[in-house]
Amino acid sequence: MAVSKEKAYYKAVRRAAAIANSDTALKDALNAIVRGIARAMKAGVSLMLLDSARKKLIHSTSWGLSQSYIRKGVLDADKSLAEVVTGEPVIITDVSQDSRVQYPEMATKAGIASMLGIPVLIGNEVVGSVRVYTREHSEFSNQDVNFVTTMANLTAVALHTSELRQIKASQQDRDQVETKTATLQQARAVTFAHPSEEEFAHLLDFYQIEWVYEPQSFTLNWEGDRVTEMFTPDFYLPGLNLYVELTTLKQSLVTEKNRKLRRLRQLYPEVNITLLYKRDFERLLAKYGCGPLAQLRGHGVSQVLYSSAEIQKRARELAEQISKDYAERHPLMVGVLRGVFCFMADLIRQMTIPVDVDFMAISYYGGKDSSVVKIVKDLDLSVAGRDVMMVEDIVDTGMTLNYILNHLKAKGPSSLAVCTLLDKPVRRLADIHLNYVGFKVPDKFVVGYGLDYREEYRNLPFIGVLEPEETKTKSELPPVAA
Ligand code: IMP
Ligand code: MG
Repeated sequence: MAVSKEKAYYKAVRRAAAIANSDTALKDALNAIVRGIARAMKAGVSLMLLDSARKKLIHSTSWGLSQSYIRKGVLDADKSLAEVVTGEPVIITDVSQDSRVQYPEMATKAGIASMLGIPVLIGNEVVGSVRVYTREHSEFSNQDVNFVTTMANLTAVALHTSELRQIKASQQDRDQVETKTATLQQARAVTFAHPSEEEFAHLLDFYQIEWVYEPQSFTLNWEGDRVTEMFTPDFYLPGLNLYVELTTLKQSLVTEKNRKLRRLRQLYPEVNITLLYKRDFERLLAKYGCGPLAQLRGHGVSQVLYSSAEIQKRARELAEQISKDYAERHPLMVGVLRGVFCFMADLIRQMTIPVDVDFMAISYYGGKDSSVVKIVKDLDLSVAGRDVMMVEDIVDTGMTLNYILNHLKAKGPSSLAVCTLLDKPVRRLADIHLNYVGFKVPDKFVVGYGLDYREEYRNLPFIGVLEPEETKTKSELPPVAA
């Protein structure tokens, strides 16, 4: 081995060790380590981390690789190389001839001849991989493998240190998975193109939904070998297997985006993608009292959607159905405060089987400074081995329910089902199975029968549509609700 190479390796290791053991922000530390490998080896390098389900490899940071190669897509942990499965280094001397490469054409196109994959392990647990990509065919010497292994170890040290720092910093005793997710999010070196994307990322972080920013560019049109049109969705949510495109642009540009989405769905039918319009997103934020619409006061109820009698009738039907399905059982009905209190009271009083009732309360998203959702009041009764029924007032994006169901699943119930009075499917992000649904509601903000807008309207006996002040015109207003 040439002396100069040995020197370069030593220098890179020395720097990486210093940075892994410093207070440097995680993403800057990871960047520096990856850059150090790339410079010393004169190669492209990427760091990928496993999502918390340990199924996908998500790009964290890289150096010396083209954007199009980085956006080739989220890799499957078991299809791409296999170092994260076996915990052993993988050397691919010829990417075009090796079945362990998930996107061989992309690699060839990006001018990559050989690849080296070194697992990143914290203790015995694989958390990701460092990959080295060379333009020339390379066998990768022992020295090379040892160098990258050392750098992968230092990457693990940086990740672990950051995780420990977070555990120390968190006042509340969160469980490990949550801290791990937070570390993963921080490990991403992301620069957002638009503030609304950052706000959306904060909202996902709050509900601890993993996300990747612009991981993949889909080819939409070709002329022979030449790609003439590409589309890069803003987010991919690996846990939900969903791409999300935020469109806060002018309405005229939305038509163009819709065309691209149609084309994408046609070419890649297996891809789940959803478009969040500016208006939807602002309403979503307004629900939490943030964003531009939050400044507008809700005004009055413009329309009664379900009268008190209709609600009672539907609650009775649901109660009967549940009593039948759970005959001989004794379910634990769990509600999330506070919106559900009216529905819970009416539902259980019409059930004919014995039930237990319990409530939990969670903190709500309040803009950029809120970190993650917290259980403010957990259940008093034990869930293990019980038939648990989540009772909800309304399921909108499904992010709240997604979080709560994960929390409950971890406690080992013998079954877990969901009953919601209202289902607002239009803006659903988390694809959750709703076993019992009272009514499907349109994409309007509804209040009454427990549901509030900034704590108002909960005591209305019916469910009505709240008319925001700005859109209200005199002629549209019905007589004032009683
Ligand atoms: P998700 O997490 O987006 O599904 O939101 C669920 C929670 O948001 C519900 O439990 C409600 O508290 C609240 N929410 C969603 N939509 C409405 C609405 O139209 N009116 C009142 N509250 C709503
Ligand atoms: Mg609720």
